[in-house]
Amino acid sequence: MDYLKILKTNQLAGEIQISGAKNASLPLIAMTILAKNNVCIKNLPQVADINTLLKLLSNLGANIDKQAHHVSVDTTSLHETKATYDIVKTMRASILVLGPILARFGHCEVSLPGGCAIGQRPVDLHLKALEAMGANIQIKSGYIQATAPNGLHGCDIIFDKVTVTGTANIVMAAALADGVTNITNAAREPEVVQLCEILNASGIKIEGIGSAILSIQGTAGTLIDIDEFCIIPDRIEAGTYLCAGAITNSQLTLTHVEPKHLGAVLAKLEEMGSSFTLTEDTITIHPCKKIHSVKIITQEYPAFPTDMQAQFMALATQADGVSIIEERLFENRFMHVSELQRMGADISLNGHTATVSGKSQLSGTDVMATDLRASSALVLAGLVANGETDVHRIYHLDRGYDALEEKLGNVGADISRLKE
Ligand code: UD1
Repeated sequence: MDYLKILKTNQLAGEIQISGAKNASLPLIAMTILAKNNVCIKNLPQVADINTLLKLLSNLGANIDKQAHHVSVDTTSLHETKATYDIVKTMRASILVLGPILARFGHCEVSLPGGCAIGQRPVDLHLKALEAMGANIQIKSGYIQATAPNGLHGCDIIFDKVTVTGTANIVMAAALADGVTNITNAAREPEVVQLCEILNASGIKIEGIGSAILSIQGTAGTLIDIDEFCIIPDRIEAGTYLCAGAITNSQLTLTHVEPKHLGAVLAKLEEMGSSFTLTEDTITIHPCKKIHSVKIITQEYPAFPTDMQAQFMALATQADGVSIIEERLFENRFMHVSELQRMGADISLNGHTATVSGKSQLSGTDVMATDLRASSALVLAGLVANGETDVHRIYHLDRGYDALEEKLGNVGADISRLKE
């Protein structure tokens, strides 16, 4: 198993190119199930989750031709409709194939994803919406067994909670359904927006893109032609490197980024004392001598993302004063707290709220990554901790960060990947 060795870094300097967004790539790869042509996807990040989903599609019979940062997916040969446990257990987002396979074939089985490190993460809202569209769903032997022998039909769906992959799943199902599906309380994340935009450009009429109310006119089973497209930049990767700049008091320029997707993150960094120069597709963070404490509440887009909570907690350990971080989306997303505490952070937990008292001088030690974003928080802490920080179990990090040690190493971090 690999681990990352990080030594204290004085300052970083230079440019980091942001990769395509993992969370946009996953639904867009699943979307190829709706296509009658070979779909070419560009600006794909090189991360493990993408390979997992491509492997799933390949197991189902799709032809995949993957190069470094682009892939062609031809699902015309797809014949299997069962996503088995061995793949789903490694990546919950495998649930994204449920909507499109069910809509295209009239039946689909997906292993129940189960809980994960950050909480229970049920998929009840996906299932309830598909049932409203005419699916018959049973849970048997750990599998979601869905059938819709007469196809799915459009209907009105009101999500009880905003769900990102739930919205993507239902949008894809609705694309091949008979009639109009109206979704109320839809997710507005840029990754969902890109999915809607590409479907719209492929002939599926979608109204309300980017709003919480979507209206999708389905094709009643006719597959669609999808032109080549390019994945949007990863706003969470960008936010993580902005935190690296802020925590090390450095000037860093991120390229190939979409500043508009980072509103809440930039606003919080500004509150903490950072300043920026923005262009259409770059963000330069300037050195900030003193980091101020902050109050953060994670919520759905466009509010502050839960996927940036752990990284901001690492940053808050270096702020003067008391920061309050409230996690509203996932009940157990504080696994990084105990590892940061082991490095010397002063953090107390009360239910969904973490109180971080700074500034703490962190010390390097062996720490364990527990989930994807927790891993990057430990890397950030390692940049400012005295001595050596060894971050273990970085397979979590590899699920979603494209060449992290190379990107940070290129701007001056002392970081290397070693074998246990
Ligand atoms: C997606 C992102 C993940 C991010 C999360 C929240 C992908 C591949 N993953 O995950 O990185 O952290 O959005 O921004 O895009 N819920 C239910 N029932 C459901 C579905 C969700 O109760 O059927 C709850 C969840 O437990 C959670 C909340 O709704 O409390 C939001 O979850 P959701 O938006 O569905 O997260 P994911 O789509 O799994």
